[in-house]
Amino acid sequence: MRLALGSDHAGYDLKTFLARALREAGHVVVDLGTNDATHSVDYPDFGAAVGREVVSGRVDLGVALCGTGIGIAMAANKIAGVRAAVVHDVTSARLAREHNHANVLCLGGRLLGTEVALDAVTTWLASEPAGGRHLGRIEKLARLDERLDEEKGIA
Ligand code: RB5
Repeated sequence: MRLALGSDHAGYDLKTFLARALREAGHVVVDLGTNDATHSVDYPDFGAAVGREVVSGRVDLGVALCGTGIGIAMAANKIAGVRAAVVHDVTSARLAREHNHANVLCLGGRLLGTEVALDAVTTWLASEPAGGRHLGRIEKLARLDERLDEEKGIA
């Protein structure tokens, strides 16, 4: 798969670990930065970058990291078409894909150990959107995206 990875400084170390592991597993990783842990940067910039890369179709899915995963998920979810989910374990990662069709997975670099994070990402990538009863809810999410654009006069 082609995967976009992005983080702020607080997610940088975990992003580096995951990027290496995912490349070793055969995925193509597009690293959108940030490029070191010592300079403080703003998670909205990187969450939006990952979201835009996914929505553009240039990658299949995205992984976004900050200290908690929360801020970068908020940012990614501002991009129409993004369904970003903050997860903390394998089960939430699997259900984020099966039930919510999450196309961006968000993790907290200050909260998760490397192996828990890798297991969560690996499980999410191996899971499939379940469709069925969930499809109508995904369509309602898409309609919320459209309404946001209308409210801002973009659509
Ligand atoms: C950065 O200090 C931290 O606030 C950020 O990485 C993130 O956890 C926000 O949600």
